[in-house]
Amino acid sequence: MTLPEPMPVVVLISGTGTNLQALIDAIAAGEVRARIAAVISNRPGAGGLERARRAGIPTHVLDHTGYPDRAAFDAALAAAIDRYQPGLVVLAGFMRILTPGFVEHYAGRMINIHPSLLPDFRGLNTHERALRAGVKEHGASVHFVNNELDGGPVIMQARVPVRSDDTPQTLAARVQQREHRLYPRVVGLLADGLLKLQGGEVWFDGTPLDAPLDLDAQASAED
Ligand code: GRF
Repeated sequence: MTLPEPMPVVVLISGTGTNLQALIDAIAAGEVRARIAAVISNRPGAGGLERARRAGIPTHVLDHTGYPDRAAFDAALAAAIDRYQPGLVVLAGFMRILTPGFVEHYAGRMINIHPSLLPDFRGLNTHERALRAGVKEHGASVHFVNNELDGGPVIMQARVPVRSDDTPQTLAARVQQREHRLYPRVVGLLADGLLKLQGGEVWFDGTPLDAPLDLDAQASAED
């Protein structure tokens, strides 16, 4: 029996691309059955572009400053993505607010990773805000993208205990380590057809979730 082709995925980045690297590595290790068809950055100097090139992945730069408005940029971006006919669009540190038409076009097949336990701390500076709020637990979330900023249905989370001596930097470093396991895990489940967005809800293995999946519970279920 021949296995179906791995799902083609397009990854959008703006920065260093450590989450992109984690996905490249997980695919190379055979942990995720997907193929990164292209990496697209809106910033010409994004470090993640070099990571993609090293892995032999086609790269494109669409510099948003060269477009008259958001709609024009998003139309060009969608055209660049759709050339690859991806089953999934993965936002990995892509620092752009997307237009409703763009979001609608990729409904149910575009995901984002956010460094907090959503719905807590949407937006920027999440680690600093978590420390200031005195929370005992922090972490990262992967969610389907909808028109609310960091507000789409949450698929899976990774939890990190907050230590009394944490600074925004130490906390960020621990959360990032967890992101690098969390994101490939979710991409793998989506590529295997085990996760879906249906009626605004996340379905896992044929059942709607009443709470986001937890990375650690997932990992131990597989042991
Ligand atoms: C991550 O912390 C992610 O949660 C946020 O942007 C950061 C991207 O980092 N959305 P990198 O470019 O993957 O290293």
